[in-house]
Amino acid sequence: QTGMFTYDPGFTSTASCESKITYIDGNEGTLLYRGYPIEQVAENGDFLETCYLLLYGELPTQAQKEDFVHRVTYHTMIHEQMTRFFAGFRRDAHPMAVMCGMVGALSAFYHDSTDISDPHQRMIASLRMIAKMPTIAAMAYKYHIGQPFVFPRNDLDYAANFLHMCFSVPCEEYKVNPVLARAMDRIFILHADHEQNASTSTVRLAGSSGANPFACIAAGIACLWGPAHGGANEAALTMLAEIGSVDNIPEYIARAKDKNDPFRLMGFGHRVYKNYDPRARIMQKTCHEVLAELGIKDDPLLDVAMELEKIALSDDYFVEKKLYPNIDFYSGITLRALGFPTTMFTVLFSLARTVGWIAQWKEMVEDPSQKIGRPRQLYTGAAQRDYTPIGQRR
Ligand code: SDX
Repeated sequence: QTGMFTYDPGFTSTASCESKITYIDGNEGTLLYRGYPIEQVAENGDFLETCYLLLYGELPTQAQKEDFVHRVTYHTMIHEQMTRFFAGFRRDAHPMAVMCGMVGALSAFYHDSTDISDPHQRMIASLRMIAKMPTIAAMAYKYHIGQPFVFPRNDLDYAANFLHMCFSVPCEEYKVNPVLARAMDRIFILHADHEQNASTSTVRLAGSSGANPFACIAAGIACLWGPAHGGANEAALTMLAEIGSVDNIPEYIARAKDKNDPFRLMGFGHRVYKNYDPRARIMQKTCHEVLAELGIKDDPLLDVAMELEKIALSDDYFVEKKLYPNIDFYSGITLRALGFPTTMFTVLFSLARTVGWIAQWKEMVEDPSQKIGRPRQLYTGAAQRDYTPIGQRR
């Protein structure tokens, strides 16, 4: 029973849209996917079930889930001609640059799912995006490291298939570790949607013009890449590595507080959360599980991260400004332990966030009242004046 649940956070005048998908209470540190707390979804569900929930608004029955998983599974390959695009990229290109190019190019191939007025084409485009993102992401990784592409397998579940496409090589059997696959799946759930963040708002704005879904998702990927947004997981790990040891933490805390120093604690703070990001807690728990499964007794960067969090959360500056760890603070350590280079961290974020972007895009295009987005501005430029011929300019 979905009751009418409206919450006026006091800023409805600047609310960019209405949505039924994800609810955040930044003061309480609450995150709900279609009303279900992120803690319960991450603990009990799996990523494709979460995709169904975000897209259609309800948890699937067993039959609905099996049908959805089957349809996603049978869309995981990409058009063979698309693989030739990779030859045009430098091997040392950032994988996010490749993702922007490859995902935008999907609209150059799948002409049968670009007409947004057709519900069937919208559904096919949604399935294709969810299904093909792991394949494209894995190909971007393999191309980056100079290894051959690995085809998806239909006998593996979503996260296991992704790990297989990233880490298996033709020379030997690769067995997916189920504990690591479950951790990967949970990390995808944590990143799936997050209300009207910068990249989701980009997808909505692009979609409001009637642009096709592949082009809109490519716009979202471009926006997510920024270090203030999805690029923070890569920046957070780089920061932890730069700090290097707990002895150096006070110096970096001082720099983070210094208004004249551009340094920011990456993975800390949030536009909405003025309390602990609930995803960060689950990510920290997942980090410990992955390190334990891999037999990594002490990861120096995890030691730095936990000590940094402890010191920051007892420091008046961070307490007054309500700066807490966000999802990106522990994700880098976890993804590195899983075997990914820092350049792949935001790619994984974009892979998981694709379902949120698509669900929000779908909600918008299916709203008969929606119009093209057109943010206004506060003009602070020159008052009206007459043109000055070049000979009279000083
Ligand atoms: C994501 O929107 C989403 O939902 C995004 C996301 C999602 O799932 O889509 O949650 C994913 O992008 C998480 C955020 C990842 N980014 C980082 O971790 C980068 C580091 N964080 C900062 O850059 C910052 O916290 C932002 C960009 C996230 C938010 O910056 P704001 O809007 O300035 O935050 P704020 O207004 O709450 O800041 C309050 C004060 C400011 O100082 P004053 O102007 O009041 O003097 O705190 C300062 C900020 O300068 N501050 C920090 C800080 N973050 C904010 N000071 C030091 N270190 C930080 N990390």
